[in-house]
Amino acid sequence: MITTRLVVDNNVNKTQAYTQAVEKLIQGEIVAFPTETVYGLGAIATDEQAVAKIFEAKGRPSDNPLIVHVGEAHHILKYVKEIPQKANDCIETFWPGPLTVILNAIPNTFAPNVTAGLSTVGLRMPDHPIALELLRRLGQPVAAPSANRSGKPSPTTALHVEKDLQGRIPLILDGGATGIGLESTVVDFTVDPPVILRPGGVTAQMLREVIGEVIDPDTTTVEDETVPRAPGMKYAHYAPDAPVFLIEPDHEAVENAINSIHMKHQKVALIAPDEFKQSHADWFFSLGNQQNLVTSARHLYAHLRSCDDTVTDIILVTVPIKTGVGAAILNRLEKAANGNWWHS
Ligand code: TXA
Ligand code: MG
Repeated sequence: MITTRLVVDNNVNKTQAYTQAVEKLIQGEIVAFPTETVYGLGAIATDEQAVAKIFEAKGRPSDNPLIVHVGEAHHILKYVKEIPQKANDCIETFWPGPLTVILNAIPNTFAPNVTAGLSTVGLRMPDHPIALELLRRLGQPVAAPSANRSGKPSPTTALHVEKDLQGRIPLILDGGATGIGLESTVVDFTVDPPVILRPGGVTAQMLREVIGEVIDPDTTTVEDETVPRAPGMKYAHYAPDAPVFLIEPDHEAVENAINSIHMKHQKVALIAPDEFKQSHADWFFSLGNQQNLVTSARHLYAHLRSCDDTVTDIILVTVPIKTGVGAAILNRLEKAANGNWWHS
């Protein structure tokens, strides 16, 4: 299969790009498109065979359900049994935007492989002009996970998608780099108080300001097993080729780590804020100003992927403070590092 990447920049390209994308989707093909978080790989959510192509192209385990994307918030009325008040308040506040709401689905509304056999469904209205235009022209719900090969960092540019899925999908809509850079916050509203299943751009604090109590497994001390997580969170994720180790953003600790790696005649890439650019790492990828977590989130996945273009033996990443978007960044970093912290 030949993969076409269409840059959606001027009006002529735009019309052609949307027409082609809608055509492909209606024909039961899958199409990659930008959202404000990361690139998604979409299929019409009622088309079981098309949805199966997503799992196939990504190499995704079939027990990991997909998020359904809508172009208008009120469309979800047709798909779910009820919308609890708290879910409704969050939808009004955060949509379009990086919040996925888990609700009880009306049975047989979507293809069974979308929800991986669960009675619930994750729904979101993305805040990106290309995603919204595509969804509105199509007029149908689109199931879309991130457009990476399973296990790799989510794509924040069309070139990342191309690298992972070239020859596996027919079309990529190229809208440049995505803004947020981390996947949406996933919140389960089928329980009360609602539970954060995956932290993201909409932080626990932002949710609490709208609906009061929210259970955040990252900070709640309940028995691990009793806290539900998104099925996808149990899989290895966001991992570049070289092993990743986390380290506190402390200059002495970082230099000691680099020295001991060099003593073993190994190479090291460092992903850290600007403050660390004088380090002796063989490659340095800047997360921007240490105070600016939004910039860190935006660049993190591209930097993890850039490490795959080096011959580094080890990747060191400094951790952010755990407040705000920092919680989501740390959540992804712990997965990328498989829980490993650097010990000299
Ligand atoms: O920002 C995003 O959410 C991106 C863009 C493309 O929209 N999508 C994305 O999809 O990150 P994906 O498939 O990579 O992650 C979806 C997460 C998985 O962890 C999955 O287990 C969880 O959402 N999920 C989906 N449906 C669920 C459900 N019914 N119950 C619990 N978790 C669900
Ligand atoms: Mg993903």
